[in-house]
Amino acid sequence: MNRRRFFQHSAAVAMMSRPAFARLQAIAEQSNDSTASFWNNIRRQFPLRNDRVYFNTAGLGPSPQTVLDGLQNETRSHDETGEAGHEIFDKARRRVAAWVGAAAEEIAFTRNATEGMNIIARGVPLRANDEVLTTFHEHPGGAIPWIVAARNAGATIRLIDLPKQPKDVVAEVERNLNAATRVFMMSHVPCTTGTIYPAADFCALLRERGIISVLDGAQAVGMTPVALRTIGCDFYTTSGHKWLLGPKESGFVYIANATQEFFKPSFVGAYSDVRYDLDEMALELRKTAQVSEYGTRNAATIRGLLAALDFFEAIGWQKTFDRQRELACLLIEDLQKLPRVELLTAPEAGAFGGIVTFRVKGLSGLQITQKLLEDFKIRARAITEHKLDACRISLHVFNAPEEVERLFDAVQEIAS
Ligand SMILES: Cc1ncc(COP(=O)(O)O)c(C=O)c1O
Repeated sequence: MNRRRFFQHSAAVAMMSRPAFARLQAIAEQSNDSTASFWNNIRRQFPLRNDRVYFNTAGLGPSPQTVLDGLQNETRSHDETGEAGHEIFDKARRRVAAWVGAAAEEIAFTRNATEGMNIIARGVPLRANDEVLTTFHEHPGGAIPWIVAARNAGATIRLIDLPKQPKDVVAEVERNLNAATRVFMMSHVPCTTGTIYPAADFCALLRERGIISVLDGAQAVGMTPVALRTIGCDFYTTSGHKWLLGPKESGFVYIANATQEFFKPSFVGAYSDVRYDLDEMALELRKTAQVSEYGTRNAATIRGLLAALDFFEAIGWQKTFDRQRELACLLIEDLQKLPRVELLTAPEAGAFGGIVTFRVKGLSGLQITQKLLEDFKIRARAITEHKLDACRISLHVFNAPEEVERLFDAVQEIAS
């Protein structure tokens, strides 16, 4: 592992955007011009233990202290007054919407990506014999809501494989569409390989054919720029507790305004309505995503999510994405030197962010992951989906090149 190479490259990237230190004084106090010390200071913002290496942000992102403080302070303030803090939701919706390039009324807060996918799958009225097209690489949280929706409607589900090269996905989707295809759902970044697919390209194709496009963005938001209007999908769902490092049980769903023509909300309650009078049995539901944000919510979770956005804005989003990719790049370059290791992540520039998935010949994904944890105190995740039998490494701003080095040494030993 050539650390000098890493720091030279990072220093060049760091010069592109100076962090907005004013908003995170703790970082400011400890920061100086050295890239290594900058990232060391970032690491110190996390209560993450140092006696093991955490490479599983794609499973669950550990929060920095500012997020934990936001969560705790907001919880306390509600318990001091007894008020629910509803007012934070509109403000947060506007901020999140502006950040992902959507209108505020197209965003609803959820508990996680899975909840968002359920809202979508139950909200698209499928007909008997409709086909839902999706991929072998979906997470259960993305796939199961559609399997159930299809079963309930008498529709069918068909699966396609994903090409290793992201650009080839458009032809693969096109080849598999037919007259019955009503919905196409796939992960913007699959949890298996971490490859970033060109969502705008296949959504344009789907729009041309009148097919509903649904994206699972659980692995994309916070790992790669997401501009929803540019992507042009109908629906998008994500979690706040993965790459955004936000509070557990945070997330949001995007329901494009245009889908209100056919979208049928199924989870509803107080705050879903614009007019409601039980005595007169009068009910008019909102024609916005917010219709699905019913009932009492935890405002502290939203405060924590906003603190997570503050944290990344203080670092700089581009710098965040660059850092993830640089760490991944180091790992990819070194894993490519090991003859028994096969990379599942496309190694070309632009095709990957913070996820690297690999196999070791002769070992199962579970065996690799178990050995990493038990023998080297490195937490990774086994990829069993689609029988890929691999090991997934997630790299985020709190990870260090030294940790990648430790992983490489471990893999080298495992694969020797
Ligand atoms: C692509 C994808 N979709 C959905 C999920 C489910 O996320 P959550 O449990 O936060 O709903 C995951 C979790 O890893 C995922 O990787």
